[in-house]
Amino acid sequence: MESDPAKLRLLYQGEVPIHEPGLDELVRAHAESKQLCFTDRIEEGLAGADFALVAVGTPARLDGRVDLSALYRVSEQIVRNAVHPITVVMKSTVPPGTGRALTERFFSKSATRIRYASNPEFLREGQAVKDWFSPDRIVVGSDDQDVATRVLALYAGIQAPKIRTSVVSAEMIKYAANAFLATKISFINEIATICELVGADVTEVAPALGMDVRIGSQFLRAGIGYGGSCFPKDTKGLEQLSSLNGYDFALLKAVIEVNRRQRISAVRKLRAALGGLLDKRVAVLGLAFKPGTDDVRESPAIEIISYLVDEGAAVSACDPVAVANARTVLPDSVELFQDPYDAVRNSNAVLLATEWDDFTGMDWTKVKRLMAPPFVVFDGRNALARASLEALGFRYSGIGRQGAGDGDEVSTNITFGKKRASQV
Ligand code: UGA
Repeated sequence: MESDPAKLRLLYQGEVPIHEPGLDELVRAHAESKQLCFTDRIEEGLAGADFALVAVGTPARLDGRVDLSALYRVSEQIVRNAVHPITVVMKSTVPPGTGRALTERFFSKSATRIRYASNPEFLREGQAVKDWFSPDRIVVGSDDQDVATRVLALYAGIQAPKIRTSVVSAEMIKYAANAFLATKISFINEIATICELVGADVTEVAPALGMDVRIGSQFLRAGIGYGGSCFPKDTKGLEQLSSLNGYDFALLKAVIEVNRRQRISAVRKLRAALGGLLDKRVAVLGLAFKPGTDDVRESPAIEIISYLVDEGAAVSACDPVAVANARTVLPDSVELFQDPYDAVRNSNAVLLATEWDDFTGMDWTKVKRLMAPPFVVFDGRNALARASLEALGFRYSGIGRQGAGDGDEVSTNITFGKKRASQV
């Protein structure tokens, strides 16, 4: 069931309203074989169904709390329209405790029996189809073993560890997973900042760090921070939930703050490299919050652009697939291009915000010809070849890759130790 008429129209025509590799083919094949049908009428969707999979949005409110209004609406509709026993399977990310609350508030009041399971989603945007067929684990939370068994049976064809938990634990697993991954990113970004101060290079540090299997190599890429519809919302949602339950989740607050700082630090570095932003032209390569998606929600690129525009910079930006979505959220003055070479024309600085292959594989000799001095490249994802760019005459900076700047002394225990030795 889809309630947005524009999206539904596209689905009827066999088109998928989001950019997700491999999804169009799957949807088209199953729609043609009539295994998959679309409707905007809930009674039609529920007719004859054993399960109702709920996957509505649960966005963040301004204060960070999760907006559950779409979930309440759909729960009410299910209760009103269920004419035979059905199991609600929650795929939406919901704060721990929501399943219990929904059951008390809606499903337990239904005339027909409605049972409930939490089945959190761990798919990554841009790799959702791949992740669906080979997940790290499948988690089903239900307070009824029979319900858990029947929901797990839906995944009979998929090889993965299958975990049964209570509803609230399943909800917590989802939040804990996203909060932990976000913590890894903010941690490496903090290490990157220290690397800059002491003259180390985080791109040398992180791979060696990740070789310890207890740490793991993924999510240790320093950059302008995490974005998207999940990490920002879920970290803030969990922090709010903690406060509401009387607990100060100090670590998570720091993770969120470090992520905010990464974006601001990108603006400060560009300002310093250009000697002010007023009347400078900055080309931003990448608008999506990561490669492989057209999603610009909470994208670091979007927020950085708005700071640059506020400080009087002229901004041109490009993205292989996210330009249309970005247009709806960016100031009108930002010029958008499909072709990165058009975007970099006459720019004083280039910011790599999303590490699409289209950008990392650019002909940088040509880029230099098109740009204007002082030829600054700010590599917000540490994805470009620093040495080659410097050899071409670019002023390169990345994240956690500079030496101690501005004549600052590097403070180490050794220096401190020497001073103490001479004092003795
Ligand atoms: C994330 C989780 O990875 C999924 O497991 C989860 O199902 C999903 O949220 C969700 O809750 O629905 P997704 O938001 O698609 O998936 O994106 P990620 O690939 O996790 O990347 C998130 C952000 O972190 C991106 O902005 C990316 O650029 C950034 N990132 C990632 C880093 O800055 N450094 C890294 O090392 C990795």
